[in-house]
Amino acid sequence: MASDRVQRFRRLKLLSLLLFWVLIDARFQLGGSFTDSGDGAALQSLKASWQGTPPSWGKSDDPCGFPWEGVSCNDSRVTALSLSTMGINGQLGGDIGGLAELRSLDLSFNKGLTGPLSPQLGNLKKLNILILAGCRFSGRIPDELGNLGELSFLALNSNNFTGNIPPSLGKLSKLYWLDLADNQITGPIPVSTGTSPGLDLLLKANHFHFNKNQLSGPIPETLFNSDMALIHVLFDGNQLNGSIPSSLGLVQKLEVLRLDRNLLSGKVPNNLNNLTNLSELNLADNGLTGPLPDLANLNSLNYVDLSNNSFAPAVAPAWFSTLPSLTTLVIEFGPLQGEVPQKLFGFPELQQVKLRNNNLNGTLNMGDNISPQLQLVDLLNNDVSSLTLGSPGYTNTLILIGNPVCTTQLSNTNYCQTQQQTPKPYSTSLATCGAPSCPLDQKVNPQSCECAFPYEGTLYFRAPKFRELSNVTLFHMLEMNLWTKLNLTPGSVSLQNPFFNIDDYLQVQLSLFPPIGLRFSRTDVQRIGFDLTNQTFKPPKEFGPYYFIASPYAFQDNGKSSIGPGIIAGVAIGCTVLVLGLVAVGVYAIRQKKRAEEAIELNKPFASWGTSRRDSGGAPQLKGARWFSLDELKKCTNNFAESNEGHVSTQVKGTLGYLDPEYYMTQQLTEKSDVYSFGVVMLELITAKQPIEKGKYIVREVRQAKDGNDPEHYGIRDMIDPIIRNAGGHLPGFAKFLDLALQCVEESAADRPTMSEVVKAIETILQNDGIRTNSTSASSSATDLGGSKGGQPKHPYTEAMPVPKQEGNNFSDSFDYSGGYNLSTKIEPK
Ligand SMILES: *[C@@H]1O[C@H](CO)[C@@H](O)[C@H](O)[C@H]1NC(C)=O
Ligand SMILES: *[C@@H]1O[C@H](CO)[C@@H](O)[C@H](O)[C@H]1NC(C)=O
Ligand SMILES: *[C@@H]1O[C@H](CO)[C@@H](O)[C@H](O)[C@H]1NC(C)=O
Ligand SMILES: *[C@@H]1O[C@H](CO)[C@@H](O)[C@H](O)[C@H]1NC(C)=O
Ligand SMILES: *[C@@H]1O[C@H](CO)[C@@H](O)[C@H](O)[C@H]1NC(C)=O
Ligand SMILES: *[C@@H]1O[C@H](CO)[C@@H](O)[C@H](O)[C@H]1NC(C)=O
Ligand SMILES: *[C@@H]1O[C@H](CO)[C@@H](O)[C@H](O)[C@H]1NC(C)=O
Ligand SMILES: *[C@@H]1O[C@H](CO)[C@@H](O)[C@H](O)[C@H]1NC(C)=O
Ligand SMILES: *[C@@H]1O[C@H](CO)[C@@H](O)[C@H](O)[C@H]1NC(C)=O
Repeated sequence: MASDRVQRFRRLKLLSLLLFWVLIDARFQLGGSFTDSGDGAALQSLKASWQGTPPSWGKSDDPCGFPWEGVSCNDSRVTALSLSTMGINGQLGGDIGGLAELRSLDLSFNKGLTGPLSPQLGNLKKLNILILAGCRFSGRIPDELGNLGELSFLALNSNNFTGNIPPSLGKLSKLYWLDLADNQITGPIPVSTGTSPGLDLLLKANHFHFNKNQLSGPIPETLFNSDMALIHVLFDGNQLNGSIPSSLGLVQKLEVLRLDRNLLSGKVPNNLNNLTNLSELNLADNGLTGPLPDLANLNSLNYVDLSNNSFAPAVAPAWFSTLPSLTTLVIEFGPLQGEVPQKLFGFPELQQVKLRNNNLNGTLNMGDNISPQLQLVDLLNNDVSSLTLGSPGYTNTLILIGNPVCTTQLSNTNYCQTQQQTPKPYSTSLATCGAPSCPLDQKVNPQSCECAFPYEGTLYFRAPKFRELSNVTLFHMLEMNLWTKLNLTPGSVSLQNPFFNIDDYLQVQLSLFPPIGLRFSRTDVQRIGFDLTNQTFKPPKEFGPYYFIASPYAFQDNGKSSIGPGIIAGVAIGCTVLVLGLVAVGVYAIRQKKRAEEAIELNKPFASWGTSRRDSGGAPQLKGARWFSLDELKKCTNNFAESNEGHVSTQVKGTLGYLDPEYYMTQQLTEKSDVYSFGVVMLELITAKQPIEKGKYIVREVRQAKDGNDPEHYGIRDMIDPIIRNAGGHLPGFAKFLDLALQCVEESAADRPTMSEVVKAIETILQNDGIRTNSTSASSSATDLGGSKGGQPKHPYTEAMPVPKQEGNNFSDSFDYSGGYNLSTKIEPK
């Protein structure tokens, strides 16, 4: 008799296990793809139209269930595509519009993505982040992008877009980042009119990056207003004409203003002097006229370039002596006359003074208080007739070639030679690594001194606050920010060959090294690419706004159709659940047949475990499908012994690891003992600890891992069967499942849930995970059976018939489970 009891709960365990797998199975197999069918179809057609998608694509039909690399889902809906630097070729067709729940789309640095953007991008109404930077898209920017009302981040830079800026972008009221830089965009900057939106409506925008295009016409006076939040206005490298709008002075938050390399003319408006937070002002290479602007209030100004304009000849303005944070002053081919004010050289952060091709004359007296950071004074082609170096004296680069002083006083000095020592720009040192040589495509990781395939590209800083490239401290800060914010091993970052390019951007070659092994995974690359485009990575503030262009990455699986470990895991888990699912269905079918026979036979009275054993004639509990006749129960439980008050006293010789620890104290098995056993089974499933005799240790180990770590179960995750971890990591309910298992193995029975609560919890987890329980083949018929037997068809999750809880009865409501996934577990009397 006792062995009956053991057998009974062993069977229960098995069936619970099967239940679990069938539930998983339902999502992966029997119920079809877990992924929303529309989203699935959209991804399938994207895959069909692209070459070079990650190998995991198409190895399953279920991008959310058996995840495709770069596809993120919430429940069954695709919410993010992160495919940075994947080497994808093809076009972005209308299929993308089918991903109606998409929040984030990042296709950056796929140089093989070409052709025009589909207008159906405008269907992605939930889209928050759209990053297409560094591809080769062409054609017009579709007007329909203006329909993306949730968009906050739009980066279309470094493509080959043509046509105008669509005025409809003015409807993107949540837009924070607008980057259209480095394309072939033509025409005017659109502003709103009575009938059309315009960019002046973008009050949330912090960034207008339109540099390096072919924009023409004037910068509209109505583009700017005092409600705007702009901090970066980068219009450099266009063909904008007309004068600088005075409304710019209203954008009080402005920090960087680059209007250089345009066709601007006229006077610089006085009220730019209101922009007290401005740190970089670059108006070089225009046709600006009138006096040099008054910048005396701009106490935050670090960098000023007014070169190559047509300003009226003048002596150095007063602000040459009053801007304390200046690092760089550039006025080449300028209007300057008279002497250079001595105070200029005393600004504590001053690094470079570049005033070649002016008419500066008289004596150059740098004073006694020269900035310790000053590295370059370029006065080529001026009219300086004598030099007074202060004391202790200036020893860095001073260029006086083309000044009268070089024909007289200084003719044989360095100052009059073309070759002068300039400090060497920073590059990450490999000194500690000796001189290792690496195979082609690989580089030395400065942290480990080993060869690996780095993720590489170029960082472009569009408005750094400094000019001096030899400052080790600054570049070390940049390296540290990179490895910290990109989650890399400290030291595994290399910066090489910084220089200011023809667009006056600071260009730095970046190499990032994998934490272990030779290569980054695709997931890593997708993440890093995203972090570098959506500005998750922020450089030290001295570096200012940046953009990044990645080089293609040499993935291991490139060009091979090899099956990755993820796929193997996916296939393995798929096969396992399929087999278990089939077993379960088989068991179910047999039992259903039996049950039908028995139902006829037994007829009345029914007694479910939901009723008190003393209440033997009570109404049947119809909520679930686990029914037992009183006779059956009596037989199973040895006529309830003498003492699925509420316990059964038996001599059990079960497998120790599974046994309720309280059993050792009380020698009594309760439903909670079964719960405990089930918990162990769940943990076994999760941790893949076999053989089952180890059950006891699992509970201990899992508990220790949980206690010793953060609430996210980080420690437990390390114990999880890698196969389940791969799939489970993408099951949103997995952590809850783990929690549930842990509750089941609580030391004290009172702390454990009832079996019915367990089953309900599993149902809830799966329900929340989007299992459509009505449609899963494993469950619907069982549900019907459960209802029809009692003559009352019920929805699987109905709470309409609460189970009367009987005080003092541990069996009360046991297995009162809703039946959404039920399997027959009827105990067969021996
Ligand atoms: C998933 O979607 C649900 C329902 O739309 C939402 O409440 C929840 O916040 C989403 N979760 C995540 C992580 O985005
Ligand atoms: C970019 O577009 C222009 C004009 O359509 C075309 O001439 C040029 O070849 C394109 N460049 C690339 C790299 O596709
Ligand atoms: C600006 O350029 C446009 C052509 O792009 C021209 O029609 C207009 O006259 C120019 N305006 C000024 C002030 O130069
Ligand atoms: C200027 O910058 C400071 C420091 O970042 C900030 O507190 C202040 O609000 C800014 N001023 C304006 C007008 O945005
Ligand atoms: C901005 O500058 C203009 C012209 O210099 C001046 O009249 C105005 O008062 C200034 N506004 C603010 C807010 O400082
Ligand atoms: C100014 O123009 C000259 C000649 O075109 C050019 O060499 C120089 O780079 C320009 N300077 C700046 C700062 O734009
Ligand atoms: C320097 O230039 C100014 C303005 O052109 C002139 O008045 C002055 O006499 C010059 N000084 C010398 C020393 O040449
Ligand atoms: C390097 O840059 C840092 C940060 O801007 C600055 O504090 C330091 O003085 C600079 N060092 C030198 C030698 O210029
Ligand atoms: C970049 O993306 C992350 C994750 O989606 C988000 O938290 C962050 O705010 C984004 N950055 C910007 C500047 O939008």
